[in-house]
Amino acid sequence: MTTNTPFKLAVLISGEGSNLQAIMDAIDAGTLDASIEIVISNKASANGLNRASQAGIPAVVVAPVKGQSREEYDQCLLATLATSAPDLVVLAGFMRILSAGFVHSFAERIINIHPSLLPAYKGMDTHQRVLDAGETYHGATVHFVTEELDDGEIIIQSRIKISADDDANSLQQRVHIEEHVIYPRAIQWLSDKR
Ligand code: GRF
Repeated sequence: MTTNTPFKLAVLISGEGSNLQAIMDAIDAGTLDASIEIVISNKASANGLNRASQAGIPAVVVAPVKGQSREEYDQCLLATLATSAPDLVVLAGFMRILSAGFVHSFAERIINIHPSLLPAYKGMDTHQRVLDAGETYHGATVHFVTEELDDGEIIIQSRIKISADDDANSLQQRVHIEEHVIYPRAIQWLSDKR
């Protein structure tokens, strides 16, 4: 359902921002009824900041300060997010674990994309771990964020068949293609039910 008020997103990144780009492209194409109010990175070097700036979206760095606790950092994040009052916080390659306080502040309004078929292969290096285990299938998952890492209710998954000549690089690329389809779709579902 399309409403007059946009479904407001805050996108949190740490790196390349290809999922951010997919979300921006879906909004531009009219297939995603939402607006990105702010992009926040914990790293000044994140290329996703350039992608946001080029699109005219406020791009902000919230860098961790030496000696700062996780809770203190997350308070800074919350203060920055408060300026845009997002309906949904979208983690798109944001490489920090969020504190319980942060998660509760946006209860059931934080989503993440993870490069595996959760609940299998939580954590890092999923592509190599999947290959090492001799799996037949791999994929990506969009899920709600809870206090537990890569946990929370699953919204959508995409599955790919691993081929004999796949390596971690090719798997990463193939999974990315899937991610760029399912992340905008998941956000649209949440926008519809807003
Ligand atoms: C994606 O593979 C995502 O699943 C993981 O981090 C990566 C981010 O890639 N959480 P990008 O920055 O969106 O290109």
